[in-house]
Amino acid sequence: MGFQDSMPDFSATKIVKEFTTGGQQLRILDGVNVELDRGQNLAIVGPSGSGKSTFLHLAGTLDRPTSGSISLLATDVSKLTEKQLPAFRNEQVGFVFQEHHLLPQLTALENVLLPTLATGKSSQTQNDRAQELLEQVGLRDRVHHLPAALSGGERQRVAVARALINEPVLLLADEPTGSLDQENADKIGQLLLDLQAASNAILICVTHSDRLAQRFGQHVRLQNGKFVRD
Ligand SMILES: Nc1ncnc2c1ncn2[C@@H]1O[C@H](COP(=O)(O)OP(=O)(O)OP(=O)(O)O)[C@@H](O)[C@H]1O
Ligand SMILES: [Mg+2]
Repeated sequence: MGFQDSMPDFSATKIVKEFTTGGQQLRILDGVNVELDRGQNLAIVGPSGSGKSTFLHLAGTLDRPTSGSISLLATDVSKLTEKQLPAFRNEQVGFVFQEHHLLPQLTALENVLLPTLATGKSSQTQNDRAQELLEQVGLRDRVHHLPAALSGGERQRVAVARALINEPVLLLADEPTGSLDQENADKIGQLLLDLQAASNAILICVTHSDRLAQRFGQHVRLQNGKFVRD
């Protein structure tokens, strides 16, 4: 309780993002606003090129907006220096991309543990947590498999476990089901929702699937640089 009750755990306020390429300036995001508290989730749909990935990159501090502000747990991320950002991102944000981006020479378990290397927490604790997460995503018997020895859906589940290993407050997923068949896509989508609820995190998920989007507490369409409530 206290004055921070009025401040959402995540907010993006009046976000504008412009890209200049070959002298031509394009305004991709034109005043995007969203507020989410822990435990809430949001699905973003919208046509190719509408700026969905661009928004996730800004939300995850991988890029900075042209104007507007992003705040996470009362931290205005625009105030963080280039030196502070990587540690902040590593601790507070988990990413799941369309392609799993697992390192091929590392096992499932080692891939999940990668983001913990920089945190300085005890490796036994981390190891236990990684095992537990792999179990939660249904891979208890695949812990020591290399990515090449996993199916597409299994690889994506390893990527989900990896995104959660540092207990991020913000979980960002960019078409995490894009390369999967319908059945596996639905499973990954539901898995993300379940893990987000269990960890009381915020989940923002870009998807092409209206069916998946309907399962989220909130869904918006990115259109002409703005979020339109579906
Ligand atoms: N670094 C960049 N420099 C210049 N233009 C960019 C850059 N990143 C993105 N864009 C442009 O911004 C627009 C939005 O791109 P973005 O990747 O966010 O789209 P998207 O909605 O995720 O599309 P998709 O559904 O195809 O993944 C595109 O027209 C793209 O060319
Ligand atoms: Mg995209």
